[in-house]
Amino acid sequence: MTNKTNTVKISAAALLAVIIVAACSGGEEAGHTAGGANAAPVSSSAGLPSGRIGPGEELAAVKGEATGQSCIDCHGSEGNAPIDDTYPKLGGQYADYLGHALQQYRSGERDHALMSNQAKGLTDQQIADLSAYFASRESQLRDLHKVH
Ligand code: HEC
Repeated sequence: MTNKTNTVKISAAALLAVIIVAACSGGEEAGHTAGGANAAPVSSSAGLPSGRIGPGEELAAVKGEATGQSCIDCHGSEGNAPIDDTYPKLGGQYADYLGHALQQYRSGERDHALMSNQAKGLTDQQIADLSAYFASRESQLRDLHKVH
């Protein structure tokens, strides 16, 4: 008897949950344009291919020809321990932001003595991979206004 009552209650709760989910996703579609705010990005807004964390992690440790240093030599382990206080942390930053910044260094739109050379030889896939890797790390982002 008790078991039966519980089963009925659970079924009712499950049905209610389904109705709520259905109602919510309906509202989501009506309220937002393409994909909705919570949809996983299908492709980068920076027009990059999909990033791969593993290859990005490997590349982050490879010494660049221009500076003789790797990404993590300057930005620190997981992009979170820069060797200089004025260098930005990268861990947990939006992948699109990182990708866009690297594209801008590569094109010369954003210019910095160290970073421009560092980004010059990178392919779109490498930029996407590096961005995916650093974005996947823990975020310790902080404001650099006071250090400049
Ligand atoms: C020799 C040191 C050095 C190396 C090596 C280096 N960086 Fe940087 N990076 C910097 C400095 C300094 C800045 C800040 C430049 C500026 O103010 O524009 C920076 C900025 C950045 C930014 C912009 C961050 C932001 O918050 O706007 C990204 C992204 C970045 N680096 C990624 C990388 C990646 C990926 C690599 C490896 C391919 C790399 N860096 C290698 C020193 C370095």
